[in-house]
Amino acid sequence: MDVDEFRRRGKEMVDMIADYYSTIRERRVLSDVQPGYLRSLLPFTAPNEPEKWEDIVKDIERAIMPGITHWLHPQFHAYFPLGFSFPSLLADMLCNGVHTIGFSWITSPAATELEMIVLDWLGIALKLPSEFLLQNEHRESQKGGGVIQGTASEATLVAMLAARHEAVKKLQLELPELKDHEAQGKLIAYGSDQANSSFDKAAIIAAVKLRKLPTDENFSLRGEALETVIKEDVQAGLHPFYLLATLGTTSSCAFDNLLELGPICQKFGLWMHIDAAYAGSAFICPEYRPLLNGVEYAESFNFNPHKWMLTSFDCSCLWLKRRAAIINALSVDPVVLQNAASDSGLVVDYRDWEIPLGRRFRSLKLWFVLRLYGITGLQQFIRKQIQLAKKFETLIRSSDLFEFPVKPVLGLVCFRLKGSNDLNKKYLKALNDSGTIYMIGTELGDQYVLRMCIGSTQTKESDIDITWDIVKSIANNTVGK
Ligand SMILES: Cc1ncc(COP(=O)(O)O)c(C=O)c1O
Repeated sequence: MDVDEFRRRGKEMVDMIADYYSTIRERRVLSDVQPGYLRSLLPFTAPNEPEKWEDIVKDIERAIMPGITHWLHPQFHAYFPLGFSFPSLLADMLCNGVHTIGFSWITSPAATELEMIVLDWLGIALKLPSEFLLQNEHRESQKGGGVIQGTASEATLVAMLAARHEAVKKLQLELPELKDHEAQGKLIAYGSDQANSSFDKAAIIAAVKLRKLPTDENFSLRGEALETVIKEDVQAGLHPFYLLATLGTTSSCAFDNLLELGPICQKFGLWMHIDAAYAGSAFICPEYRPLLNGVEYAESFNFNPHKWMLTSFDCSCLWLKRRAAIINALSVDPVVLQNAASDSGLVVDYRDWEIPLGRRFRSLKLWFVLRLYGITGLQQFIRKQIQLAKKFETLIRSSDLFEFPVKPVLGLVCFRLKGSNDLNKKYLKALNDSGTIYMIGTELGDQYVLRMCIGSTQTKESDIDITWDIVKSIANNTVGK
């Protein structure tokens, strides 16, 4: 493909995406292919001779689309949203087109510097305490800073690795004879019983003990539950070092009580990391910002613009109060990466703030989104999505078939049929089998619950009516009305 053909095919590809987007309503939301379906549609070996572009394009509809679950479909209500907007998509195109990799400042100064600036912009928009920024309002350098990770899972892990590194050093100061692995063996991390499974995975990778703590009736982790286990574990000779506090849990969008947890973390020397993967985007609205109160106690804070801030996957923003903690834990300095800029100490080398070495120019899409929507545009988007969830809540309330196991929060409505868990499982299966809607279930306490999340940027008021019609009619069938 030469540059002229690229120009032509590129325009066709943009048209193809625009057509996909504008006809998405006609598609089945949840793919219904059987495991291994693609093997029978594609040859066993790669082609020996070059194929034609047109033939590949034909295979998109024939082979690929049947196996796509359409996250941008207006009736996609599963999981949490997947950020999307045309500005972000176009910026990603530019990112791939410029094709640079910014692991060290020198490998693309703009990639590093734009990320530093955009993360400060976003931190200021969320009213994060200024310690989390790279520069204060007088443009003076600070000790903290933000970095774009691939996912919230990576953010939880790298914060844990930074905390682990510090905790091991601290233990060895008290007990100099302790070897690294012996000190590490004493460490224990905490999160609530509602914490995302990425917390469990982080503890597996970091090779530390983990304890899931019970939550209150609102599925929120409270200070007393934390303090009790810390005391027990210290008594047992362990060293509590890390708390994962969640704002907006995956199951029900519950909020851990930062104002109670924070002072306890400070008292016992725990690193508090906040995982606000989904809910964090809402903090850009002044009316939802109080949900973040207590962030001042945290060492690190993370949320995913790739979930709910119109930015495409992957873009997970992590801020730290002390960037040295992560750099000390993750920095390596082989000869091939050494350069005068790094040696000068004047630049940020983001390779030291994350697990991979290679990194895409992800700040571009955030920059496009922030500029093309502005803070007010993003606030309007969040408010609109919450309003759609409220509309669905009101419709559910209008029927006596349903109940709410927890209060709906932000864009998530957890609801269930009055009746047994088996009835609700049957109901969810019937909804998803219809192909017209996609939701997932969860367990809250001993109740099986359906989660309806406003997932797509395409969802409008009239789509909520469609969703409600499906939800109501399949509910009537399920209960035999
Ligand atoms: C609260 C919470 N934390 C972490 C994650 C994992 O996010 P990621 O896919 O970015 O790792 C999720 C995913 O939905 C989540 O809801």
